[in-house]
Amino acid sequence: MLDEVLTALEIRPGDTILDGTAGRGGHASAMARLATPDGRLILCDLDPENLAYAASRAQKAGSCRIETLHGSFARAPRDLVASEAPADAMLVDLGVASTQIDTPERGFSFLADGPLDMRMDPSGPITVRDLVMSSSSDELTRIIREFGEEPLAGRIAGKIVAHRQKTPIHTTAELANLVREAYGARAASSRNHPATRTFQALRIAVNDELGALDGLLRQLMDAGRLIADSRPTWLNPGARVAFLTFHSLEDRRVKRAFAEMKRAGLAELPSRTPAVPTEAEIATNPRSRSAKLRVATVGDLRVPS
Ligand SMILES: C[S@@+](CC[C@H](N)C(=O)[O-])C[C@H]1O[C@@H](n2cnc3c(N)ncnc32)[C@H](O)[C@@H]1O
Repeated sequence: MLDEVLTALEIRPGDTILDGTAGRGGHASAMARLATPDGRLILCDLDPENLAYAASRAQKAGSCRIETLHGSFARAPRDLVASEAPADAMLVDLGVASTQIDTPERGFSFLADGPLDMRMDPSGPITVRDLVMSSSSDELTRIIREFGEEPLAGRIAGKIVAHRQKTPIHTTAELANLVREAYGARAASSRNHPATRTFQALRIAVNDELGALDGLLRQLMDAGRLIADSRPTWLNPGARVAFLTFHSLEDRRVKRAFAEMKRAGLAELPSRTPAVPTEAEIATNPRSRSAKLRVATVGDLRVPS
């Protein structure tokens, strides 16, 4: 949804932009072009390899200043405050980059065998293997139910715990097979691979994906309040923010935060409903199928300054 994002963010030459999820730099390089010549693009990613790749792509695309921030986007507001250069636009394109999914050694995919890892930041403190091998059955059930919205969470957790008492679980294929066994005959009627929800849940847990999103949304709300009080913050008044989400747990959070900001007069929303990809985009990029784009302008635009 590149065009939709660029239209929503209304990037102008000289703007300061935060790309909270630089990924492979597709959005970043388009934004760098638009902010050229004297803009500033801050790229953030948990994955150092993606971050370096995105930075080099953006560097080639435009002549604006490129800065990188390795870590969670929830940390970026503090850096913007410290540098006393608030952002005019922010993009957060949640989820996984295709290179992460397509590299079996990163352990994100149940379709290709690899180690049970799934860390977006390879220096992160825990892997999926740590979770699977040492969480209690209750904790595994909670993770798989809450983050995967998996109705068979209890059965899957039970299967994992029973198996690991006999043999350690090392690989994505081993875990995917255990989930399939927990599904039993239901696997045949399941629309997606039975392991889809369990893998999503463990990935979310290992990378604290919802914690980071909640943290950023809280800081967005705080920025809205500071702007309403005419006080400086990490966003400029009238900053445009865009969130691309890929499942309901993410979208629900963004939707709720935006609605609360709108009710409090801290943001304007061009639309109450999210934009979704066209059939043509889904045909060329099937992973965009579940994307939802929500945008907001931060600051009470009804009050003349
Ligand atoms: C869908 S990709 C972004 C694609 C990017 N917009 C592009 O055009 O290539 C998501 C990226 O966000 C990163 N990511 C996910 N959660 C993050 C977080 N909390 N903080 C920083 N980066 C995060 C992932 O490592 C991944 O590289």
